[in-house]
Amino acid sequence: MAEFPAEFVWGVATSAYQIEGGATEGGRGPSIWDTFAERPGATRDGRTGAVACDHYHRWPHDMALLSDLGVDAYRFSVAWTRVQPTGRGPVEQRGLDFYRRVVDALRDRDIEPFVTLYHWDLPQGLEDDGGWRSRDTALRFADYAAVVHEELGDSVRFWTTMNEPFVSAVAGYAEGRHAPGAREGHGSLAAAHHLLLGHGLGVRAMRAQGGGKFGGEKFGGDRFGGDKFGIVLNQSPAVPVGPGGEAAARRFDLLLRRQFTEPLFGGAYPGDYDDVFGPITDLSFRHDGDLDVIGTPLDYVGVNYYYRRHVADAPPAVADPADRTAEDIGVDYTQLPDVPKTGLGWPIEPTGLIEALTDLKNRYPDLPPIYLTENGCAYPEPVEDRERVAFLSSHLSALSTAIEFGVDVRGYFHWSLLDNFEWAHGYGPRFGLVHVDYTTLVRTPKASFSWYRDYIREQRAG
Ligand code: NOJ
Repeated sequence: MAEFPAEFVWGVATSAYQIEGGATEGGRGPSIWDTFAERPGATRDGRTGAVACDHYHRWPHDMALLSDLGVDAYRFSVAWTRVQPTGRGPVEQRGLDFYRRVVDALRDRDIEPFVTLYHWDLPQGLEDDGGWRSRDTALRFADYAAVVHEELGDSVRFWTTMNEPFVSAVAGYAEGRHAPGAREGHGSLAAAHHLLLGHGLGVRAMRAQGGGKFGGEKFGGDRFGGDKFGIVLNQSPAVPVGPGGEAAARRFDLLLRRQFTEPLFGGAYPGDYDDVFGPITDLSFRHDGDLDVIGTPLDYVGVNYYYRRHVADAPPAVADPADRTAEDIGVDYTQLPDVPKTGLGWPIEPTGLIEALTDLKNRYPDLPPIYLTENGCAYPEPVEDRERVAFLSSHLSALSTAIEFGVDVRGYFHWSLLDNFEWAHGYGPRFGLVHVDYTTLVRTPKASFSWYRDYIREQRAG
């Protein structure tokens, strides 16, 4: 068994829209995922998150599962629309109270909450005014972050602003696979920028609420110290395939990684935008001073790793570069290597995790500590999930190798605690350590649940 540092954090992750249900309860307003999932053809079998795992009602049971699993930490997200139903203005106290109960229950169980403020469920009211295309949404996000931090900041120390802004921007505003389902190309560049801007403004707003807010001494303060602010990025190394693959992989890497990591940790946007996107490009949404805000120093960075992207050159769909949209950068990133795949067809490549982590450290020597905030696999199987055990075991070995190579990784969160709503894929792919029967909503721990529980125990025993 791989060995991890004694203080390493073991956790699991979920997100609000994927598990909560209770979509119209407690004053919750509609989000872009409620709207999008209702659109014919948007999700597999037209499924939505209206009920999901019904965590909104069954959360005490899920807290007990966390205790049984024996994790140190639980990463979950707050639904913006429970707190501000239209994304701005009046606060819905019932929404804040729900998360207060969850956080208190975690504290009672000695489980560290890792709160994500934005996991893709933008209030529909803000989308109606432009969504992430609009600068105003970044300002509204900072207000919302401050509201939640003001309420829960005495008990929550780990705050993540955005989850995977690449997916929000590109799948949501360029490819149309995710809410709000826009296919605008250029819109995705503005969306990426405003997500980053909202992140920086959010961190500043929360920090401005003052040090010492977090009641660290009550909660084993010395283990982690005070408030910690970060962002979660998905990091898939791009592997070139075939003639022209090197250049294609570089282009894709700009879209997926460098457009986020450079402004966050390198102080500037990448210099080769025009080479990649063609002379599109109205970048007037970037204002003087934005890079300072986006580069606000962080306490940690979350990395989500699932697989490497195998990227081939592909003719752009639109011949005239002036008419191309931002996602049309002449790449085919759906190529698959000849290796075993998960139930979703994703290649199983644990060494890609080492690569993703070492790349990040090598590119940005001053990077803050890393938490691996997601890693997991989907299978349609029931509870005897030997494939998931093999996946976990091989990825944990890879993670320990990355740490041996000198990458400062402080924790691992498996995605996910529960089978849940896998966005456009509906409920087919099951990522949970715990099986959920979507008719009865009964939870049944899988073989991987016991395996991970025992693994954590043995790590603690040294
Ligand atoms: C990343 C996302 O953050 C999460 O919402 C999703 O379910 C997993 N990847 C698996 O696709």
